This record gives sequence, structure tokens and C-alpha cells, in this order.
Amino acid sequence: MFAVHLMAFYFSKLKEDQIKKVDRFLYHMRLSDDTLLDIMRRFRAEMEKGLAKDTNPTAAVKMLPTFVRAIPDGSENGEFLSLDLGGSKFRVLKVQVAEEGKRHVQMESQFYPTPNEIIRGNGTELFEYVADCLADFMKTKDLKHKKLPLGLTFSFPCRQTKLEEGVLLSWTKKFKARGVQDTDVVSRLTKAMRRHKDMDVDILALVNDTVGTMMTCAYDDPYCEVGVIIGTGTNACYMEDMSNIDLVEGDEGRMCINTEWGAFGDDGALEDIRTEFDRELDLGSLNPGKQLFEKMISGLYLGELVRLILLKMAKAGLLFGGEKSSALHTKGKIETRHVAAMEKYKEGLANTREILVDLGLEPSEADCIAVQHVCTIVSFRSANLCAAALAAILTRLRENKKVERLRTTVGMDGTLYKIHPQYPKRLHKVVRKLVPSCDVRFLLSESGSTKGAAMVTAVASRLQAQRKQIDRVLALFQLTREQLVDVQAKMRAELEYGLKKKSHGLATVRMLPTYVCGLPDGTEKGKFLALDLGGTNFRVLLVKIRSGRRSVRMYNKIFAIPLEIMQGTGEELFDHIVQCIADFLDYMGLKGASLPLGFTFSFPCRQMSIDKGTLIGWTKGFKATDCEGEDVVDMLREAIKRRNEFDLDIVAVVNDTVGTMMTCGYEDPNCEIGLIAGTGSNMCYMEDMRNIEMVEGGEGKMCINTEWGGFGDNGCIDDIRTRYDTEVDEGSLNPGKQRYEKMTSGMYLGEIVRQILIDLTKQGLLFRGQISERLRTRGIFETKFLSQIESDRLALLQVRRILQQLGLDSTCEDSIVVKEVCGAVSRRAAQLCGAGLAAIVEKRREDQGLEHLRITVGVDGTLYKLHPHFSRILQETVKELAPRCDVTFMLSEDGSGKGAALITAVAKRLQQAQKEN
Ligand code: BG6
Ligand code: BG6
Ligand code: GLC
Ligand code: GLC
Repeated sequence: MFAVHLMAFYFSKLKEDQIKKVDRFLYHMRLSDDTLLDIMRRFRAEMEKGLAKDTNPTAAVKMLPTFVRAIPDGSENGEFLSLDLGGSKFRVLKVQVAEEGKRHVQMESQFYPTPNEIIRGNGTELFEYVADCLADFMKTKDLKHKKLPLGLTFSFPCRQTKLEEGVLLSWTKKFKARGVQDTDVVSRLTKAMRRHKDMDVDILALVNDTVGTMMTCAYDDPYCEVGVIIGTGTNACYMEDMSNIDLVEGDEGRMCINTEWGAFGDDGALEDIRTEFDRELDLGSLNPGKQLFEKMISGLYLGELVRLILLKMAKAGLLFGGEKSSALHTKGKIETRHVAAMEKYKEGLANTREILVDLGLEPSEADCIAVQHVCTIVSFRSANLCAAALAAILTRLRENKKVERLRTTVGMDGTLYKIHPQYPKRLHKVVRKLVPSCDVRFLLSESGSTKGAAMVTAVASRLQAQRKQIDRVLALFQLTREQLVDVQAKMRAELEYGLKKKSHGLATVRMLPTYVCGLPDGTEKGKFLALDLGGTNFRVLLVKIRSGRRSVRMYNKIFAIPLEIMQGTGEELFDHIVQCIADFLDYMGLKGASLPLGFTFSFPCRQMSIDKGTLIGWTKGFKATDCEGEDVVDMLREAIKRRNEFDLDIVAVVNDTVGTMMTCGYEDPNCEIGLIAGTGSNMCYMEDMRNIEMVEGGEGKMCINTEWGGFGDNGCIDDIRTRYDTEVDEGSLNPGKQRYEKMTSGMYLGEIVRQILIDLTKQGLLFRGQISERLRTRGIFETKFLSQIESDRLALLQVRRILQQLGLDSTCEDSIVVKEVCGAVSRRAAQLCGAGLAAIVEKRREDQGLEHLRITVGVDGTLYKLHPHFSRILQETVKELAPRCDVTFMLSEDGSGKGAALITAVAKRLQQAQKEN
């Protein structure tokens, strides 16, 4: 009995002595609570540095956005392939997520070796090897005939700009294949897979193992929002608020951030904590100076740290009686599994002896106790460091959520955590001590990270399918060159048709003679009134033209025309116009003055002379009754008479295209075309009289108002009209009419966009499938909104804000789609307009028998002026389709009122001359 006691006493004394000895020796490795709190603070600062745009480039902890935006919600399903590369084992898997509505996951997998010559050889060969393993797996599982999406778990730091792409920042751990750093591993692997012609695999997602782990655990526990690996390497990810992630656009919701905490300290932030052993280990590693935090923690390094310590202690005579074996001198001879075995609760000491003997040492009892304690200190420090960094993440999560107490789950994986007998307990305890305000559940990922990777792939595959649906819709708006050439040819045919006496009456492109026969010559002078009706704004103007100097002074006022007047009776409309004129004269102090007036009236009118114009039919947003078939000049005169306050000499009625051509022609005599791309779409040009069969006389030229907006009203371009164009047409004031205009002008583009958005929403591809009242409202997308949304300078958030102003509650993803839809619609408009214009310039070139034509187009209209891309695309199209014409586009700065006044001046001069004759 006594002997037993004595033995026990002797043993505990021995143990105490050894522990004291080791504690003294490794004093620097034992971290106090204060130090841990300090490390926790430092890591918090590192996280912020990595998240912020300006500090990220120099941050050691990279805080990489992963483009994983949500934890699984149970709706994921499908069959996927998965690769798990970068941990201690390389696996290929087939994962079946949720069968027959059941939330359950089935996996079949196979391990493949990763020999050093592969993982440290040539990069291309590494990927070819991986692809070969996948091919082998597919063959054994009889999957080769299937087209399967693949999720790649790749456990190295990658910079991602989307889920299916990742540029390797640097290899870590045991990998060091050449020529992979700074390249996209997804395309590298895709390329390697192409060698297998019988394999059809699409890599939809690249995830870090931490992310896979978090997602795996979150499938079972929705509270899981952190993933931690303590294995070969160490790392963590967590869900961060989008508003804190500078590197990714958008601010709603959260995104998972791969912290890459292994690199903590690479900028020197942990130098006071690192020991001589850490430095020595680092120097002998594959990546000296890198992953310094990881090298104090993870499985690849713990055994080696222990070895270095034992060697030093032996050298100092503190162990093995100063004896060292050659194994103890050999790098890598002590592994983490040995550390774990030596720290086992009961067999630990026996294991230690066995391991030391295997290393060719002859350990005493005291040595075994001391060595065991070395292991404890090294692994405890590892757990402490992990705990400090994890505590920082948890604190950040709690603060992001603005809660007093955080209830959360951390998904865990990695061999060190799994096989070390004390590690989890120690880690949990320290974390709880460091963040008492968090209730943390640690959940071990039983099935590795691939289940989670499959969840991410499932979501990606659903998004891909949705993307395909969106692309299918957008494709309807993409015109090929052949289609555009066809439009050009058809337009050309219609132009000729409208000019011929025989066919003129039935032509859809009306080709209306304007009785404007020449451009201004600079001799015009006088004071004129002008009206400008039919565009976005109704204006009354006073235009003073000074002869000789080609200078014009203008005063104008914009008046509103209320909808009820635009669509009321003709009398009301013209009375309103006269009322505005009266106001203007009053405002200008010209009451009672009888001035010559030019009337820009931007609707199709049949003219028999310059001062007569019979409205053929309203277009755009006008629909006043009793006007069609009437002379609008007469109607205006009558309204003036009704008012009986002043008299005006209405000298000319001109279309806005004609006014625009004149405005520009005043400056550039080569301007023989006028184009409006605004609320409506139209074009006029100077035609040789001999080609205009409806007007007598063969000399000189006359301006023809083409009214090309009606192009296609005979169905000739129905092949390129979409169901959305039909919808817009049917909902318009003039169904069946102005089909080309409805594909090309500001008043309708927004409507087409709205129809597409409604359809995409119905398909569940936008606005969470909810069609709001707003979206049902006609006309919400005015041209100016389209222009704003499509501006390249606009960040996504601003697009979203515009949509919100329109009453459309959109996410950032929605905003991207809306912008794309706008882009597709406006691009088609510009191209169609360009094809029309190309038809005209080519006609002019051929009519004049020219090899090359130089011509200027005067342009106006809000779409052309405000839209960021319309004018460019239009011009490019003209160049492409009419390569032999050198077309200059001249923006009309002053509107068409100036041109109308100039026409009035010329007409007045002619009137005068006629009278004198
Ligand atoms: C596995 C995961 O369970 O753990 C891997 O599936 C991960 O994705 C690995 O890389 C990490 O642990 P270790 O110890 O294998 O590096
Ligand atoms: C203006 C002209 O500048 O542009 C108008 O003065 C013309 O005559 C208008 O109708 C066309 O553009 P929008 O976009 O206002 O229809
Ligand atoms: C290394 C890698 C990291 C990975 C970790 C765990 O730190 O850089 O991406 O998550 O190991 O495997
Ligand atoms: C409509 C009108 C046309 C006008 C054009 C541009 O197409 O019918 O006359 O030129 O809009 O405003």
C-alpha cells in the first residue's frame, strides 16, 4: 500500500517537475487571456482592412468575396458532380440533393491520390490529372452520358468576381504547381476537361472548403453562418453584410467572405507572438514568409513545431539525456497524428513512448511526460489562436446584427479538429470565454465540404437556367447583319413606292411633299413667331433673324399640354394653343403685334402648299377629335379668330424633321436630311423633283417628309417584331399604325421594356415574381429613365435607386436584368433607325450616280440627345450598311423652331416677290 502511495507521489512529483521545466522552456508559447483579447482586437482590425477598398490591396487578411449569397433554404435540388481538392484528401463525388421533395442528400465518392510530383509539378498537368480522375469516376459510376453541373471545392485563396471563376492568389499548404498562380482555376480545369470528348461537365461554382463546410452545416442548421477549417491548413468564412463589402457592388443581403485568416501576421502583425520555432519552421516551408498564422495552428505544421522544440530541448540537454536521433533531425518526422496520439487521455504516455522509440530515441519516463506536455502547449496555443480569431468574427457578426446576444452556429471541419482528442473542447471553451455574449453551437461537418458545395452549385444551376430564360428573351432583340440589311432593303423599296404616283396613295411610308424647296441661303431676315408642337415640349418662340451674319436670336417659353387636351376635342386643343400664344406675346410685351408665324407641327400632314397641311392621322400621344382630315392651319386661324385678340400671319406649316434639317442647314449647307429620334421617329430629306411624281415640275429639289414611322404597317417587318412589340402596339392610341416608330422611338421603348419586365416577372425571373401595381402602369419608363439606367457611369446601386424612384422594389440582381433589358431594346432601336437612314443615304448616292456621297444629317430628339449609346450605335449601323456614304451627324442645338422661322422667312420673301410681280 505504502509502495503504491510512494509510487504515486514519485510520479506526480516527476510530472510536476517536467511540466514546470517545459513551461519554463516554452514560456513564450503560452498565451494569457489578455494576449488573446489583444489578438482578437488585432484580427478585427485586419478584417476591416481587408473589407475596405483602399486598404484591401495591402491587407494581409484578404477577406475574399465568395459570391455565395445565402445559406441553403431547402429548395435546392438536382444531381451534381463535385471535386474536393486542397485538403488532406482529394475526392471526386456525385451528390444527389433532395429527391422526391425530401430534404436529403445522397453522396457517392471516391478518393484519388495526390502525389507530390503532381501537386508540385506543372500546373497544366495538375489540372489534367484532376480531369482524368473525374473522367475515371464518371466511367466507374456510369455517368459519362450525362450532362452534369460541377461544384469545385478548391481550398486555396482565390479572388472571385463571380461564382464560377477564381484567380489563384497563391498556393498554400502542400501545393506548389507551376504556372497556376494568377490564373483562373475554373478555366484551367475546364480546358483540361475538354480533352475528354465524352465528358460534358459545366463548372458552375468554385468554393473554398470553409464555404463548403459552412453550407454543409447550414443545410442542417439554419443558424450556421460561419465555417472553420482546422486541418492541413486553417481558415474561416462567415456571412458578411453586403453593405460592408466594398469590393462587390450592391448593398442588400449578405455574402459569404472567405477570410483566409491563415495569412494573418504576414505583414508583421504577430511578430511579438511568434517564437524562434515558428521562424525556423517558416524558413523550411514551401512558402516562407506566408501563412504565418496558419503555421502556428494547422495540422501540416504542428508536428513539425513539436519536432523543432524537442530537438532544441535535446540539444540543451533537457531531454533524452542530450541524445538526438537522426529521425529527430529529419523534417516532417513528427506529424499531427502523432501529436494527437501523444495527447490521448489514457494511452497518451504509452503512445508517446512508442512514437519516441520509433524516432530512434530512448526516452525516460520523465522525457515522455515532458514531450507530452510540449505537445499540449503547442496544440493548446493553436486552439487559443483559432479561438481568438473566431471570437473576432463572432463579435463582428453580433455587431452587424445589432443584437445584445448572438445565437449562432459554427460549421467545423479539418483533421486536426476531428482527430485531436482535446482540441474541440479547448477551442470551444476559449471561444465562449472570449465572447461571453454569444451562444455558439459548434457543428462538425460529418460529410465534408462537398455537400455544401453541391448546395451552392444547385443554386447556381437554378440561376443558370433562369439566365438562359432571360437570354432567350433578350435574343429576340438581337438583329443579325442580314436582318438589318433586309430592313434597309425593305425601307428602300417603301421609299420608292411612296414617291410613285401609282402607289403613293397606299404607301405606308407616306413620302409627303413639304413644299420646302431649298435650304436657307443666309439672306433671310426679320422677326418671326414659331410654334413647336408634337415633341416632348410645346413651345412658343420669337425668332429674330439678322441677315448676312447667319445669326439668330430666340426667345421661347415651354407650355404644358395636359393629357385631357391632347386627347380632347380639336377645338379645345387649338384654343389652348392660342391661349399659350397670347400668354407668350404678353410675356414678351408683344401684345397686338401681327407677326409672320411658322408652325412646327410634328404629325403627318398632306400639303398642297407651304401654308396648308391636312392632318392625315394623329401619332404618338395625341388623339384630339375632329382634326384628322382637316387643315391644321385653318384650325389654328379659326382658333385665333375665336379668341379675337390678335391676328397672326401663318406663313408655313412644317414637320419637326423639316424644321430640324433647316436649323442645321443654316449652318451646314450640306445638311439635306433631318432626323428625329425622340418621342416619335421620323426623317425628311431633299429629293430631286423629277423623282417626286405627285408634284408638278422637274427642276430642283423638294424636301420630302417620309413619315417613316409607318414603315412596317403592311406587315413587311413582322418577322422581327416580338410579342412585346405587339403588346405595346395593342395598348397604344393607334393600334396597327406606326410599327417602325413603335420599335424605335422614346415614347415606346420604355413600354417595350415594361412588357418584357412583366413577362420576366411572370416567369419568376424578376421582382421575386411579384407584378406590382407600378409595373402595370403604362408609361412609367420615360426615355429619360432609360437613358439614366443605361448610363455606364452608374453603379448598380444607382440603377436600383432609379427603379425604386419608379416604384419598382428591385434587388441588385433585378437591377442588372432591367439594365440589360433596356440595353437590348434601345440597341435594337438604334440599329433599326440606322438601317432606315442607311437606305436613304444609299438612295441619294445612287440617284446622283456618285461613287461616294458626303452628306450631313441634322438630328434632334430626346432619345438621340440623352441616351448614352443610341447615337453611337445608330452611327455605327449607318457606317456598316452604307459604307460608301460619308455621313456627318449634326445635332440641332436650337430645336426646330429656328428652322421653322427660317422657312417662314423664305416663304415670306417668295410671297413678297410674287406680289410685286
Ligand atoms: C474535408 C473537406 O472534410 O476537410 C475538405 O471535405 C477540406 O474540403 C478538409 O479541405 C480540411 O481538412 P484537412 O484536414 O483534410 O485539410
Ligand atoms: C425638339 C424640336 O428639339 O425635338 C421639336 O424642337 C421636336 O420640334 C423634338 O419635335 C423631338 O424630340 P422629342 O424627344 O421632344 O420628341
Ligand atoms: C489554407 C488555404 C485556405 C483553406 C485552408 C483550409 O489556409 O489557403 O483557402 O481554406 O487552408 O484548407
Ligand atoms: C411622329 C410624327 C412625325 C414626327 C415624328 C417625330 O412620327 O408622325 O410627323 O416627325 O413623330 O416627332
